[in-house]
Amino acid sequence: MKTYIVGNWKMNFTVGESSLYLHKLLQRIKTYRDIEVVVAPSLMALQPLSLQVDRRKIKLSAQNAYFQDFGAYTGEVSASQIRSLVDYCIIGHSERRHILGETNKDVRQKVAAVIRNGMTPILCIGETAEERKNGETTDIIRDQLLSGLSEVSSEDLDKIIIAYEPVWAISTTKAAKMATPDDIKEVLDLIHKLLKKTYGEEDAEKIPVLYGGSVKATNAEAYLSIPGCNGLLIGGASLIAPEFNDIIEIAKQVRA
Ligand code: 13P
Repeated sequence: MKTYIVGNWKMNFTVGESSLYLHKLLQRIKTYRDIEVVVAPSLMALQPLSLQVDRRKIKLSAQNAYFQDFGAYTGEVSASQIRSLVDYCIIGHSERRHILGETNKDVRQKVAAVIRNGMTPILCIGETAEERKNGETTDIIRDQLLSGLSEVSSEDLDKIIIAYEPVWAISTTKAAKMATPDDIKEVLDLIHKLLKKTYGEEDAEKIPVLYGGSVKATNAEAYLSIPGCNGLLIGGASLIAPEFNDIIEIAKQVRA
């Protein structure tokens, strides 16, 4: 399985800044067959960046998409409208769930729409600090994972990616804490176990499971070395092109 290094730029960079960043990264980056590099700029920048990007080096992702294909949904942009621009689409990021009120039902409809439109959803799941404190991590992970995948047919299981992002470890969360490799391993094991139980060993093994939350060049090696971690979803550190490139190089070394 490939290792995925995904940069989620969130609501940062103007279109011009996004283009400059991509230019810098394209100049530095080396291609490795077993490492898939993906960046998720803001929606505004997807069109120009889709013309600028060299897809052999970097793939593009959206950060969200609406589940209806067309119609009277003011302000929304659908998976079918972005399908020619990107290969991936992040769905169910905790900021969308907790700040913008996205429900498990929205998330599963969006996952289905992204697949229907020929892209790969990166389904984000993760518990908050409060949920963890209350011993609800297992239930939250199970609900978000199985509900998010409930409209995905078994033939499409090789077209999805899961990202575990504990909300309490995301760098911009108030009083964020760094997750330890042991914290992460426990939940990655749970995710792999739930996938195997639900879809069978063979199909479950095709699904990459990434980690995200305060990933930096200084901890990427430790996180990528966790058994069952198939890549990283990076926020803040992905906004610095040299650091993001360093993480790609670290991934290459860890997987060598
Ligand atoms: P940070 O890497 O800034 O903690 O963000 C993680 C994240 O939310 C990526 O989607």
